[in-house]
Order: sequence, then C-alpha cells, then structure tokens
Amino acid sequence: MVYKKIKIKRLLSDPVSGQNIKVNGWVRTKRESKNVVFVALNDGSGLANLQIVADPGKFSELLLKDITTGACISVNGTLVESHGKGQQVELQAESIEVLGKSDPDSYPLQPKKHSLEFLREIAHLRPRTNTFSAIYRIRHAMIFAVHQFFNEKGFLNIHTPIITASDAEGAGEMFRVSTLDPKNPPLLEDGTIDFSLDFFERETNLTVSGQLEAELGALALSEVYTFGPTFRAENSNTTRHLAEFWMIEPEMAFYDLEDNMDLAEEFLKYLIRYALEKCAEDLEFLNQRAAEEEMSRRQEDRYELSLIERLKFVIDNNFERITYTEAIQILMESKPNRKKKFQFLIERWGTDLQSEHERYLVEKHFRKPVILSDYPKEIKAFYMRMNEDGITVRAMDILFPGIGEIVGGSQREERMDQLRRRMQEMEINAEGLWWYLDTRKFGTAPHSGFGLGFERFLQFITGMNNIRDVIPFPRTPGNADF
Ligand code: 4AD
Ligand code: MG
Repeated sequence: MVYKKIKIKRLLSDPVSGQNIKVNGWVRTKRESKNVVFVALNDGSGLANLQIVADPGKFSELLLKDITTGACISVNGTLVESHGKGQQVELQAESIEVLGKSDPDSYPLQPKKHSLEFLREIAHLRPRTNTFSAIYRIRHAMIFAVHQFFNEKGFLNIHTPIITASDAEGAGEMFRVSTLDPKNPPLLEDGTIDFSLDFFERETNLTVSGQLEAELGALALSEVYTFGPTFRAENSNTTRHLAEFWMIEPEMAFYDLEDNMDLAEEFLKYLIRYALEKCAEDLEFLNQRAAEEEMSRRQEDRYELSLIERLKFVIDNNFERITYTEAIQILMESKPNRKKKFQFLIERWGTDLQSEHERYLVEKHFRKPVILSDYPKEIKAFYMRMNEDGITVRAMDILFPGIGEIVGGSQREERMDQLRRRMQEMEINAEGLWWYLDTRKFGTAPHSGFGLGFERFLQFITGMNNIRDVIPFPRTPGNADF
C-alpha cells in the first residue's frame, strides 16, 4: 500500500474519504477506552488537529503506551468520515511509528492553559501551543507580504551590513563586535583599547539601522528597502523594546515627506489587509484569546474594539496627520496633563514625547492612527532635513493604538552644507561617514525613508501585549537563552 505524505492543513482543506495517507506530527492529547484510541495530532501547519483513530486490538500495548502528549508519531492510514463531534474527517490508523517518545511526567506542556510568562521560559517548546504556532504563522505571512508589497512596486531589496563602524541613529546604544581578548586587550598609550589591532582594524558594532546604506542604494537604484535584524543596547525593560529586533526600511529617491507618509500608510494597510485575508483562522483564534484577556483588565484599560475590529478600523480610516507643534498644544491642554496624570508632564515645546503621550493622542484624542511630523531638531537624528524655520526637521513618526510609535522616518538632508552643519552641531564624526557624504557631493537628490519595527507591528496584528511574545527567541537585558 502506498501512503501519500501530506501536511494536516492541506489535508483538512480538501479532505477526500478513502485516501491512503501518511501524516507526521506531535501528539496534543490521547483518549482511550477498551475499544478505541483517539489521538489529536498537530504538525504546526494550522490550528486544527487531525483526529487519529486506532483500534487497540491492532497495535501492541507497548506502542500505544509510548503515544503520549508531546511524543512525535508518524501514522499511515485511511481517511474516513468522522461521526464524532468537532471534525469532518479522521484518520483510521493502519500503522503507527513513534519517532520520538516524550516523558509524560516531565513534558512541560500539559493540555491546559499556561501563562505567557511560563511559556517564555520554555521558548524552545512554545511553538507547540496554539497561540504561538498562530503567531509564528502570522509572522511568516507578514514577512512574505512585506516582500510582495515592495516587489509589486518595483523596489529592490538590498541586504545592508549587520556589522558596521557607524552609529546611524547617533544614540550610542551599540553592541561591540570584537575578537580582542577581553582579559588582555592591546592598549594605546593613554590606556584606551587599540582597536587598530582588532579584526576589522577599527571599532565595530552590530548595526542599529540599515538606513545609511539604504540611502546609498536609493541614490543609485531609486527605490530600495532593507529588512534585517537591528540591535540596540538600550537598557529598557518594557513591553515594546527588544535588544534584537527586525526592521523594514524603505528608502526612496525623489520622495518628499508627504510621499513618504503616503507610502507608509499604504504599506501598513496592505499588510493588515493581507493578514485579514490570508491568516483569517489564526486571527480568529487570537481575537478570541485577546477578548478573554481583556476581561482580566481594568474597565478603563479595555479596548472598545475587538482585535479584528481594530485591524479593520485602521484599514478603513485615513491616518490623522498633524505636526509636533500641534500635538504639543493638544497635549498641554489635555486633561491628564492638567490633572497631572501623565508620568511625564508636558510643560513646554521641545520635550520628547513618551509613549503615554503618543497613546493619548491615538487612543483618546483622535481615536485613530496618527502621523506626527516636523519635530524639533534637538530630539531627532542628524540626517533629517532641516525646515525653513531652522528649528524643526522633516521627521515623521506613525503612532498606533496600544503601541505608540510603530514607524519612524524622515525626509533626508540632501544638501551638503546643511548636513555638515548638523553633523558638527551634533558632534558626529564626519570622517568616518565620508562615503555617506559622498552621495551629497556626487549627484545628490531629495530622498526619504522610514523604518517599521516589525515586532511592534506584529504586536498590533496579533494583539499580544508583550513584544517578547511575537519574536521566536527574544533578546532583552539579562536574557539570551535559546
Ligand atoms: O525610530 P527609529 O529609531 O528609526 C530608525 O532607526 C530610522 N533609521 C528608520 C529609517 O528612517 N529608516 O526606529 C524605527 C522603528 C521604531 O518606530 C520602532 O517601531 C522600532 O523601529 N524600534 C524598536 N522595536 C523594538 N525594540 C526596540 N528597542 C526598538 N527601537 C525602535
Ligand atoms: Mg523613533
């Protein structure tokens, strides 16, 4: 007899009774009686388990004993209509092989609800749960949609370096890359480390952003994007910060700030629409999960809309576009500011916005995503284009409900004089960035770009409150297990 190997999702999407098939997967649960054994099998291809039915008379007791929650099995059998509740079809097992036993007493994933905190401690096994397999599948679909979106628009994907010698954001929050002996590094006369003897013959770090190199791409290829890992050594233990996260950074020549906002809004809506269309089953599951979790939150912290309603709401509405100056006005006059409810009070123009302020604008004031533009130059990076007023720059941040900043971008300073002046003011080493400055010297052009934090975006899509739950193996201060 020939058994055709098939994934459970594919099988269940077009089940034909009488087929002889082979499935492989991990046992979620086993129920047995004298006359029959039922096994719920999952291979990660979808939420639904396949019900395996085995006649205990046909299999050795020893084999059946090894079929426990967590074990990996391979089953050959015939697909038949199911008379039981909860499934259309089931697999009548002809032969079963236990590929990997699992000790039922020490297996950490019991068929019950586990807390997210506990699951983080067993991140090597959490993809075997419904919640995390759904998140993994959505994450994959979103990666695919990112590439599809830009490919349809004719953007080129460029790989920007992960090891760099520059600090694109100028915030100094970098992880050093070095092969020097930490116990005995070569020293200069003044006692500092002599990096000229290091692997790259200079000081290097993991990149905080691929933007500067993406700009080089845009100023030759017109429209490019990079989608890679970025690293920040900021010691923030929040639900929105990772030390290693993925960022999508498009960079476009001949785009001004308006064009940049238009692209970002279209991009976000495209991704959300894609998720609603292609990940309906998983989103339905997470919607239910989020609704249950909401019930345990304080009334005033609850969302008015369900997860899926929030996704649809973002697609159906234009993002509100206002300047930083207008936002400060709104925030200064806001109730939480007047009643001193904000942790950081807004007292003057020029202060940086905290996530509580961003969320107030989005969730309470406008009740939709907001694009804030034209920030004070002091609180933004050196590469942003100076406005006529000489005090604000052509920056834009996109703020989302529940998250705050999800996108950061700007029109870039393409004028050599202004760029040099800003770098001087901000004490950015121009020598090290000679190649960046060269693009302003040889055929410079107006250009713009932005960065979407992939995990923050996934938090919005999946409704997960903690960013550590939307990346397979989170890296945070004090945490580099797995
Ligand atoms: O605002 P940021 O720092 O902007 C840049 O890096 C620019 N070079 C992007 C560009 O214009 N090409 O970061 C962009 C986004 C943020 O809006 C946020 O979504 C995400 O990256 N982000 C983080 N996500 C998780 N953990 C962190 N520590 C993050 N820091 C930023
Ligand atoms: Mg930012």
